[in-house]
Amino acid sequence: MQHRVGHALMRHYDYLELLPLCEARRTGGPMHDTTAGQFTGAIPDHYDRTLGPVIFADYAADIARRAVASSPARVLETAAGTGIVTRHLRDLLPVESKLTATDLNEAMLDIARAKFGPKEQVAFTAADATELPFSDGTFDVVVCQYGVMFFSEKPRSYREVRRVLTRNGRYVFNVWDSHAHNAFGRLAHETAALHYPEDSPPFFQVPFGYRDIDAIKESLTDAGFADIKASVVRVNKQVADPALFARGLVYGTPMIDQIRSRGGANPERLIEALTDAFIHELDLRERPLQMQAIVFEAA
Ligand SMILES: C[S@@+](CC[C@H](N)C(=O)[O-])C[C@H]1O[C@@H](n2cnc3c(N)ncnc32)[C@H](O)[C@@H]1O
Repeated sequence: MQHRVGHALMRHYDYLELLPLCEARRTGGPMHDTTAGQFTGAIPDHYDRTLGPVIFADYAADIARRAVASSPARVLETAAGTGIVTRHLRDLLPVESKLTATDLNEAMLDIARAKFGPKEQVAFTAADATELPFSDGTFDVVVCQYGVMFFSEKPRSYREVRRVLTRNGRYVFNVWDSHAHNAFGRLAHETAALHYPEDSPPFFQVPFGYRDIDAIKESLTDAGFADIKASVVRVNKQVADPALFARGLVYGTPMIDQIRSRGGANPERLIEALTDAFIHELDLRERPLQMQAIVFEAA
């Protein structure tokens, strides 16, 4: 049985489908790459302009809708990045609801801040999600889109969320499913490995490497959460410019720093090869990009 999202939401998506959990596989486990969470320098601008509209916008609309469903008065967003989800949250929440957006990297938040007018209430604070600078029981909902994979100590991040939530609070977050369900990530990883056979840049393993539903549920339970629901969410998205998308994956992620640190690197050749793979392997000029994520909602 497949569940379809409501008509209003569907209008904003090229295609979105919720899959039953039995189709989700238990694969892989957490891995950590200490440079993967460094979204700094020129990365945030590329990220927001070229990756945001393609791979983050539709999931942002979905997670924001889930977050506001319980009519929270105080919402915290962690790993808020350039404010793509934050913008949706502020639009959906009543004006009197308080919204706090945090991220490890101030450079990401600088772009987020510029998306809000002076009269819109959003409190921006740089913060590590494993060490939140808030008192116990401060928020009704905590939201995190595609951030947990980058946290060095995931169980600690869950305990921190539990601590800052009210007793009936909710945590809503998503993670990417595997490369098998996100071919753009697999191609970015494989193409980079071909260009740097001796020392393959690991970045594109990280966002797709933390997806074991049972293990994540267990970590949430250990941190004190109950009533945990996981949904697999598939989005099909038409990509207007595959070359620009390839450029965004290289320059809009810490992949660019991993390439530069390898010396003698020519990111342009990698971008050309990735564009070629998108056009010839994924047929992105004719077909939509297929993406798949897992969304967790815990009380
Ligand atoms: C893929 S981006 C997601 C950003 C945003 N949620 C979105 O949907 O566009 C990952 C974000 O995680 C942030 N990040 C990485 N490690 C972090 C940590 N330990 N604490 C808080 N944020 C972190 C990065 O700075 C980056 O903004």
